Amino acid sequence: MKALLSPLMLGALFAATTLIAPEARAQASVKPAAATAPAKFTELAKTPQMGWNTWNTFACDINEQLIRESADALVSSGMREAGYVYVNIDDCWHGKRDENGFIQPDPQRFPSGMKALADYVHARGLKLGIYSDAGAHTCAGKPGSRGYEYQDALTYARWGIDYLKYDWCDTDGLNARGAYTTMRDALRAAGRPILFALCEWGDNKPWEWAADVGHSWRTTGDIYPCWDCDFNRGTWSSWGVLPILDKQAGLRKFSGPGRWNDMDMMEVGKGMTEDEDKAHFSIWAMMNSPLIAGNDIRKMSATTRKILTNRAIIALNQDERGIQAWRFMNDGQLDMYAKPLANGEWALMFLNRADKARSYRFDWDEHELKDEFTHNQVHFGKVRHSFTELWSGATGDTARPYAMNVPAHGVVVLHLRPR
Ligand code: GLA
Repeated sequence: MKALLSPLMLGALFAATTLIAPEARAQASVKPAAATAPAKFTELAKTPQMGWNTWNTFACDINEQLIRESADALVSSGMREAGYVYVNIDDCWHGKRDENGFIQPDPQRFPSGMKALADYVHARGLKLGIYSDAGAHTCAGKPGSRGYEYQDALTYARWGIDYLKYDWCDTDGLNARGAYTTMRDALRAAGRPILFALCEWGDNKPWEWAADVGHSWRTTGDIYPCWDCDFNRGTWSSWGVLPILDKQAGLRKFSGPGRWNDMDMMEVGKGMTEDEDKAHFSIWAMMNSPLIAGNDIRKMSATTRKILTNRAIIALNQDERGIQAWRFMNDGQLDMYAKPLANGEWALMFLNRADKARSYRFDWDEHELKDEFTHNQVHFGKVRHSFTELWSGATGDTARPYAMNVPAHGVVVLHLRPR
């Protein structure tokens, strides 16, 4: 590595701006960038990304053994087969930069190095994700990528990384769009298709500018495993399931294949009730959020595994049209969401926000659904559909009103197909 680097080139790498000299890139034996202007890798995240991430359960207490065991658990639990392929290492994997500025993993926690870990994960049909930050330090105070964007992107590509979550701590004075675009261009220059997940918490409205920059953007601050709470952390708050859902208002038009509103890593299996977990998972699926599990998948209960691997719910999230659901109606504390799917199919979700179960009779004749954004519309009373309830497996059709019982803090989710 060292021999390849002339002082001139090192300077260019350290400058780490979009102005890096093309000849320097070539000297670094980086795959040449496409002849066109730098752009994100458009072949990735055609449907919302699925995987697992260390942060929600382990925070900084991570090491390579945990990553290997979790990769194995993704396979043995059936999660990989259900679509969860990204194994994402969040904050705190970092050691120091070497004398040439190349970031190293923490030698105690990741003694075999990231390349070996990527090889392990790839051998199991999975992909490896990593975390960095647009500022000089990550949120946990580790080295960030500011000033090292091209060098870090190159390093990740050489390690065989497939996914980069890029955070927004320690960024005073930085322009978000500029900073994220610099890293996008750096990833493109490094040549390996790496899914780019912006984690800017919605502060600078990334949905307005990031469709060409990354594949998803966080829309809110951090999640917390509760139904409807705001967990005060002093200078900032974490949010429960309902507050995060409510912060999505007005954002669906920005979402679509390759550009997803990210509602944060999931808290399924982290202490909420079974009904709350089912609702949480269904909401994330209906809203086309990335489905990144945040529980300890090595030790999850059968109930948690069943929720996370509910193929019929996952299919709503992974529908090829990539249309985010909208709330078409509410009746007191009962919210109703609709999602147009491929082949003229639909999903409906009845979400009971209340602390008590709710009986509800849905009369198909009374509802004509019109999606103002995609112009899909349907009148279930006029065009008969059959449906499956995706948590109970119950079936029915739209010839007669549907009488349902929606659990407290729970959902009823229907997948409707024209007959
Ligand atoms: C921020 C992010 C979290 C997590 C931590 C790591 O809070 O929003 O998802 O990555 O940083 O320090």
